[in-house]
Amino acid sequence: MKYRAVIFDLDGVICFTDKYHYQAWKSVADELGIYFDEKINDRLRGVSRKASFEIILENYDGTMGEEEKERWTDKKNEIYKNLLKNMSPEDLSKEVKDTLDQLRERGLSLAIGSSSKNAGFILHQLGLGEYFDAVSDGNLISKSKPDPEVFIKAAELLGENPEDCLVVEDAKAGVQAAKAGGMDCAALGDGAKSGLADYNMAKFSDLSEIVK
Ligand code: BG6
Ligand code: MG
Repeated sequence: MKYRAVIFDLDGVICFTDKYHYQAWKSVADELGIYFDEKINDRLRGVSRKASFEIILENYDGTMGEEEKERWTDKKNEIYKNLLKNMSPEDLSKEVKDTLDQLRERGLSLAIGSSSKNAGFILHQLGLGEYFDAVSDGNLISKSKPDPEVFIKAAELLGENPEDCLVVEDAKAGVQAAKAGGMDCAALGDGAKSGLADYNMAKFSDLSEIVK
């Protein structure tokens, strides 16, 4: 087989939390009187919470100190975490679960490489709390995608070399991170549109053919 391990981004690959991120940021932006729409929300994909708020603040007229920024990002996260309580194993598609099981049956190690500090909670909500061989997330890293840190950390946790790992991503910043880490990347959605990935997928189950 071409790879020994597959490292999955979480939001936008395994599950779809975009609408919850959007709702939570929208409520913060509305309170601050900042214009925010779904197109701006798309730019937050794969980007850390702190960096996401900086993008939102591009439409803010005033100035804001670090402490105040932290209060707003904390508030966003409280709203977001409450929305995540709506998630359940029903939010994990059969296609995704069947493909993951198939890759595991072929002997591949499976890991998560996500910028999110809520990755553990999301996996728990989906019924995947104990599923992956390693979880590298926003709590373990200091540099967010497009820096490769989160994927390098995932490979380390698995005990694998980067060149033996395939990353699966939906964000351009995530594809860039995988390539910067010396890993091949299979991309969905915006990641595929970036033209920077090694494989462009129309659907998650295309992975079965890619790792053959
Ligand atoms: C990424 C999302 O997975 O996690 C981003 O694509 C998000 O939109 C980032 O900003 C950080 O998430 P969290 O849960 O730590 O606020
Ligand atoms: Mg993503």
